[in-house]
Amino acid sequence: RGKRAFIAGVADDQGYGWAIAKSLAAAGAEIIVGTWVPALNIFESSLRRGKFDESCVLPDGSLMEITKVYPMDAVYDSPDDVPEDVKSNKRYAGSSKWTVKELVESVKQDFGSIDILVHSLANGPEVSKPLLETSRNGYLAAISASSYSFVSLLKEFVSIMNPGGASISLTYIASERIIPGYGGGMSSAKAALESDTRVLAFEAGRKHKIRVNTISAGPLRSRAAKAIGFIEMMIDYSSANAPLQKELSAEEVGNAAAFLASPLASAITGAVVYVDNGLNAMGVGV
Ligand code: NAI
Repeated sequence: RGKRAFIAGVADDQGYGWAIAKSLAAAGAEIIVGTWVPALNIFESSLRRGKFDESCVLPDGSLMEITKVYPMDAVYDSPDDVPEDVKSNKRYAGSSKWTVKELVESVKQDFGSIDILVHSLANGPEVSKPLLETSRNGYLAAISASSYSFVSLLKEFVSIMNPGGASISLTYIASERIIPGYGGGMSSAKAALESDTRVLAFEAGRKHKIRVNTISAGPLRSRAAKAIGFIEMMIDYSSANAPLQKELSAEEVGNAAAFLASPLASAITGAVVYVDNGLNAMGVGV
């Protein structure tokens, strides 16, 4: 049978999550997604109204189908963790079972198992502040939403992932090189995500025969990236300085993810794979 993929962090057709979903669908996978609760209504109504129809067209002309959309908030593991003000928030109260444990329980009930887990989400409330001006709460929130969210998702999903399965997350070179503007502890969060990729590759590999990799992606004009505020500059910088002087398309990252999730990559785990037109290899801009 075909593989089943759960992609966490899809709320429109502009980001890496959507592109990865498409590449996996093109390779024959069944697609289910997790959407951040506050973005769920807009995403589902846009899907229904056909706003994404053009973006659903796969290379062979067929259409990507999303079998199911689950509400999720990756900063909460179980209902006990949810503060009152969030519980009673109108947008949250309108959905149910969106903590990580409840989400995985629902996927288990609906589908039994998955083969591929994709983590394509990040959040840093103080991302526009330099690290030197970041509060403890802002820093911890960035780590919670952008790093521990992956640990938590893998921890819960691994029990329903078929052996030979794979997980993929998205990271950014600000984890290892200075990228002024990527603040609020987001650089720290990506460093944690990359380190966890290695440790989790060991633990999930030994115990469950699951591979764990992360893609260090170049700049893309996603909703999240536009919110940071320096995306145009990063895209221009990359076009000017990378070995490959072209704009990076989300599809190129999607295709790399589909490769990493496939048996073609059966010996690749614990890796940070650069999909960035080679920019990471440059020492100076020329
Ligand atoms: P995006 O806006 O398409 O995706 C981010 C998603 O995270 C959104 O759908 C948002 O609703 C969701 N999200 C935020 N907080 C959440 C939470 N608590 N629970 C569940 N979902 C939550 O933007 P993009 O850029 O495609 O981001 C996907 C991944 O790619 C992120 O990890 C990002 O750091 C990474 N990345 C992006 C780059 C870029 O230039 N756009 C470059 C390198 C990495």
